[in-house]
Amino acid sequence: MKRAILAALGLATGLAVPASAEEEIKVGLLLPFSGVYAALGNDIEAGFTTALEQFGADAPATFEIVREDTEVKPPVALGKAKKLILQDKVDVMAGIVSSGVLGAVRDMVHGAGVPLIVANAGNDDATGTACSPYITRMSFSNGQVNRPMGQWMYDQGIRKVYTLAPDYAAGRQMIDGFVQTFTAAGGEIVGQDFTPFQKTQDFGPYMAQAKSSGAEAVFVFYAGGEAISFVKQYDSFGLKAELPLYGSGFLTSPLYVNAQGPAAEGVITALHYVPTIDSPANAKFVAAFQAKTGRIPSEFAVHGYDAGRALVEAVKAGATDRESLANALRQVRFDGPRGALSIDPATNNIVQPIYVYETVAGEGSLTQKVLAQLPAEADPVNGCEMAAPVSN
Ligand code: PHB
Repeated sequence: MKRAILAALGLATGLAVPASAEEEIKVGLLLPFSGVYAALGNDIEAGFTTALEQFGADAPATFEIVREDTEVKPPVALGKAKKLILQDKVDVMAGIVSSGVLGAVRDMVHGAGVPLIVANAGNDDATGTACSPYITRMSFSNGQVNRPMGQWMYDQGIRKVYTLAPDYAAGRQMIDGFVQTFTAAGGEIVGQDFTPFQKTQDFGPYMAQAKSSGAEAVFVFYAGGEAISFVKQYDSFGLKAELPLYGSGFLTSPLYVNAQGPAAEGVITALHYVPTIDSPANAKFVAAFQAKTGRIPSEFAVHGYDAGRALVEAVKAGATDRESLANALRQVRFDGPRGALSIDPATNNIVQPIYVYETVAGEGSLTQKVLAQLPAEADPVNGCEMAAPVSN
């Protein structure tokens, strides 16, 4: 009877349900389906279900998904995590977009011993001082995507930079990563501002500060709705030509670059994935995602896809419950759309290449021109004392 219900649920969510499945894996998908990062949550979910369909058809298990909306609000997300863990009794959780939300649910997840596959939130602490054998990150860490850009911009001859980002954990950590390497190379930060998160509509006053700072370039992190308004305002303020705009690659994500329009052209950023990566694994992913959604996949889609694939691989390796899933997830490695991926056993953070890209006009829409591929870098352990792997 339970099998029939799960099969029905599988069909309802469009997932492949193998007839011979032995196990039933209940997955709590904790994402923002409303608020400033709602579009990101939708892309992650679409990527996740694409992977379950593509890789899960011959898995020895069915997957039932229970979705919960974090609303990008840490206290709301904590309540939803509790519900998934205690009431729904999920075997594994996946998702989380905001670093603030990840910080809020970390103790609950660790204490309950529920494996969590982080499918976005880059919070450095989650794979640093607050690391856990139950938390495996398939996305990126905030420091990891921004450190390479400090040296790269210095190498382009840029010496004075002004930085801007939203005032919450991700904004501060992304900027810290960039500043560390840019100043170590010999560059100077001539000014910084952290703008109220989810509350800033007018970036004009901050842009005026940057303009009068003596900077040669501006480096920012913004994502979601804030990235759209920032890039458009930067252009209409007339700054783009005189003060080139650089940033963390989320700024010009394929998810919303078309909403930014020509304002995004010429902006140079760095990230761990762009849909123009030329490889068979990426071509297969782009085709499957486009067939499912009609959209070009973003980095968020690839986080969901790789999180889903990691789960399937863990199940194919024999994992069936919270403990064995936690153990198997941290051993996952494969060549995915972004290149060769592995999990660093010292932190449970992903190790992956970083791409510097420029947003350029393509055929009918904006596209991503890769300027450089920088080597895969494992994060420093950042205070992580990883407990011994949990026993099966
Ligand atoms: C985060 O809060 O960690 C975060 C949010 C959106 C992004 C990247 C990082 O695009």
